[in-house]
Amino acid sequence: MRRGTRWGWVAGVVLLLAAGTVSESRQAPTLPEIMRQKLDHMQQILEGVALARFEIIERNANDLGILSELSSWNVLRTPEYVRHSSDFRDTAVRLTQAAIDQNLDAATLAYVELTLKCVECHKHVRGVQLAQVHGGSPSADRTRSSMNGLSQ
Ligand code: HEC
Repeated sequence: MRRGTRWGWVAGVVLLLAAGTVSESRQAPTLPEIMRQKLDHMQQILEGVALARFEIIERNANDLGILSELSSWNVLRTPEYVRHSSDFRDTAVRLTQAAIDQNLDAATLAYVELTLKCVECHKHVRGVQLAQVHGGSPSADRTRSSMNGLSQ
């Protein structure tokens, strides 16, 4: 009886661990997945701005802020990358607030700024990856080819 209880307990822990792994993998999308979702949110925000649909802007800007907090978003450890990330997050928060305030001009401006943040961070990433490729890192090669795909 005692032994049975102990095995039941072990099985419970194993199940919990397994469930944890599954939900963790669901919560931690890869960086390309995050970026594709960003693109999608940005397109929806454009629709929201163009049609003055503040609820669309608010929902998508809020999701953008959440995405940029995921750990898989932080691939580079350079101080500049960290700054780009936090600038991006701040602008997403400003966009959310503009939508809550129903301020279309402020929302449009924040949307354009957010677009600039995408471009600026990607420029930085491409620069770093190029430098690393000269040093011969295979993972840099992979990131660089994917970033090159962006500009096509
Ligand atoms: C703080 C830096 C940063 C910001 C800001 C940023 N990105 Fe990225 N993005 C990256 C990095 C790093 C990669 C490279 C991913 C790789 O090579 O695996 C990337 C790659 C991508 C890709 C290619 C994904 C793929 O399929 O390989 C898309 C699309 C993308 N970003 C969209 C966006 C959009 C849209 C925005 C703005 C709303 C944005 N990104 C803002 C860092 C950033």
